[in-house]
Amino acid sequence: VVADPGRVIVTSGFTQGLGIVCHTLVAGGAKRMALEDPWDPDARLIIARAGLEPVPIEVDEDGIRVDELARSNADAVILTPAHQHPTGVVLSGERRTALLAWLRESEAIAIEDDYDAEYRYDRAAVGALQGLEPERIVYAGTASKTLAPALRLAWLVMPRALMDTVRQEKSLADRGTARIEQYAFADFLTRGELDRHLRRMRVSYRARRDLLLEALARELPEATVHGIAAGLHATVELPPGHDERAIEAEARRRRIDLEPMSDYRLSDTAGPPTILLGYAQIPEPSIGVGVREVAAAVEAARRVA
Ligand SMILES: Cc1ncc(COP(=O)(O)O)c(C=O)c1O
Repeated sequence: VVADPGRVIVTSGFTQGLGIVCHTLVAGGAKRMALEDPWDPDARLIIARAGLEPVPIEVDEDGIRVDELARSNADAVILTPAHQHPTGVVLSGERRTALLAWLRESEAIAIEDDYDAEYRYDRAAVGALQGLEPERIVYAGTASKTLAPALRLAWLVMPRALMDTVRQEKSLADRGTARIEQYAFADFLTRGELDRHLRRMRVSYRARRDLLLEALARELPEATVHGIAAGLHATVELPPGHDERAIEAEARRRRIDLEPMSDYRLSDTAGPPTILLGYAQIPEPSIGVGVREVAAAVEAARRVA
């Protein structure tokens, strides 16, 4: 990431950062912003409320469909190239090249949401796109996955030309992110504590992920698990015929809070039945028991259908 201090702005979470960048783009005349489908439906609301038309673009096993993006007439795109949220796919090398070409040709802006890059387990690190085109890509990082979402601490690394407007938008939003937390975070960083914390948590999350995979292979052998090389959740695809909503309801009766993929689908196109299982907060001894309950919920939902 090309991140000299003159282009960094601290925000109260990525959520605020996205709104601020959208307002900045609108001020520059942007009309349409593309976003990955599936993605967080709140992002679509943030984009729309800033006055941009949100344009969902399909994600397949290589990441966002850049050919569709090129046809969309969008002025900007927001994407999660290192670990797509929520499918977990990585933007392929070919698509990265095509995306950069599209950005240059159409003079568009990309927001690279790098929300969980710090948690990578058995895959080589994926370089940030921003370093390849720093005047066209906004890099967005957050402490929400590495430390805690309650901290509300995130950062944007901006193209220089947008810096003045983004600073003004941030000031109008809240006069600046809480400074006491920023000083504490800076101290944590400079003492090397964040690195130590990440090294420790990587081992711990990887162990939880491995237990989750073992339990899924045992309890739900018909499932295909995706997106597990990084991040803090697994995407579990079930054979056709399963009903995501019925599984969610049955799981809730068993005190399991899982998310159906349909919560994230922005257009009407239905994909294979898929559930999302987060493992960041589940202690190791509870993972096998939890997956047994998930399997029971899948079976109960199938019987009801
Ligand atoms: C795709 C994605 N981007 C960014 C974030 C972080 O948002 P925030 O910094 O507002 O907590 C999350 C959630 O943690 C997320 O799922």
